[in-house]
Amino acid sequence: MEQTVMQTVADTSFRLSDWQGGHESLKQEHSYWLEAIEGKIPTDLQGTLFRNGPGLLDVNGQRLHHPFDGDGMVCAFTFDQGRVYFRNRFVRTEGFVAEQQAGTILYRGVFGTAKPGGWLANALDLRIKNIANTNVIYWGGKLLALWEGGQPHRLDPTTLETLGIESLDGLLQSGDPFSAHPIVDPGGEDHPPRLVNFSIQPGLSTQLKLYEFDLSGTLLQSQTHSIPGFAFIHDFALTPNYYLLFQNPVTLNPIPYVLGLCTPGQALRFNAYAPTHIWVISRQGDQPIRKLQTEACFVFHHANAQERDGKIWVDSICYESFPTLDAQQDYRTIDFNQIPAGQLWRYELDLQTATATRRCLSPRSIEFPTVHPDHVGRPYRFVYLGAADQHQGNAPLQAILKLDLETGHSDCWSAAPQGFVSEPIFVPKEEGAAQADAEDQGWLLVLVYNAAQHRSELVVLDAAQVSQGPVACLPLRHHIPYGLHGSFSQDIFL
Ligand code: CO
Repeated sequence: MEQTVMQTVADTSFRLSDWQGGHESLKQEHSYWLEAIEGKIPTDLQGTLFRNGPGLLDVNGQRLHHPFDGDGMVCAFTFDQGRVYFRNRFVRTEGFVAEQQAGTILYRGVFGTAKPGGWLANALDLRIKNIANTNVIYWGGKLLALWEGGQPHRLDPTTLETLGIESLDGLLQSGDPFSAHPIVDPGGEDHPPRLVNFSIQPGLSTQLKLYEFDLSGTLLQSQTHSIPGFAFIHDFALTPNYYLLFQNPVTLNPIPYVLGLCTPGQALRFNAYAPTHIWVISRQGDQPIRKLQTEACFVFHHANAQERDGKIWVDSICYESFPTLDAQQDYRTIDFNQIPAGQLWRYELDLQTATATRRCLSPRSIEFPTVHPDHVGRPYRFVYLGAADQHQGNAPLQAILKLDLETGHSDCWSAAPQGFVSEPIFVPKEEGAAQADAEDQGWLLVLVYNAAQHRSELVVLDAAQVSQGPVACLPLRHHIPYGLHGSFSQDIFL
């Protein structure tokens, strides 16, 4: 065991014990002005950064078996004239409230957590706990905490108080899924931005729904399709004319799950010999739904998609197989060398020949891609990602990588050895808006876990000069457990 840990340190310039600190619960809820800011907060950075992620990695000392099972905790960083106000609140989901009152785990987690008491205590309990922990977005006057297996929770954007389960004006019924990866389509000169999202209801065949909302949150259009087989689809991609969804070759064996022997996440099996299906769906609904095939892989996140020369390009983070965690494994002692790394691939879809080809754009271990919001679904040049510090092998995300997809050039800032990064959020600069070639004129907001002090800090990078390092570093008084996704709103919620 000792030898394994030493090897990991030598290969990846991080200590496992440092990384583990970011997987501790944060039980307190805070509200305060950030002080001791290093550097200078850009004056054009005005608005609120919302982030979501598992805030509790244990219930009253009972450790969760998988971090994705943790209760959602939303953080807000409000930027106003060079000052920043911080607030964090747990989403008061039905399950969170019940478990906190009971002081014990009452629900089985989707990814890895069992109730105490062995398989008998878990058998036949198929209740799903909506943990509201994956993303948070402000749209149509509503702040929504999102989790793909259930309805959104609506929060007060200023206090982060939970207002309740959200039906989106009656669109969603009790328990209906709604993906945690909505896409803001930037629109164009004659059409305003839209929020586009999907949902999947898995079964022997999978029911897929697609929704488009206007700026006020009113539903403009929706589609429903049934696609053959089981599907686990976490994210999707979009162009002006198409929705693109990857159905990776995983199947669910429900028997051990129903018997209480494992969770749904542990019952997923990856088939390396089956193709990945790429579903191409017309947004106008004026063409039949198309299915293309490509090699087996697993995709959680897409970076972007675009229509180019009569073809469709989709850039995605691919894993060789579905990264599973066995019931006996402790995620905190995982050997990164034993699990597949995410890498950036470009898929070229040719609808004329119904073929898909792919090539690797970057072999580095990366996740959490983001692009300039005006280039979503459009031709683009730069992608920003969380990345391993080293160029090879799998490791926790410690660096922010900017890739120039035209020249192949990359630009990188690393927080290693004791810093661990999260998803970068791109906020366009005010002055960049008027420039013709303004794609990297923006700020990258990155929450970094600093193991040296067991606290987190919000880092502001200049997207045009990532390797120059932070223009501002905003230390918190405490740590924030590793989060998932977030978004920036121009609104100043104070
Ligand atoms: Co995600």
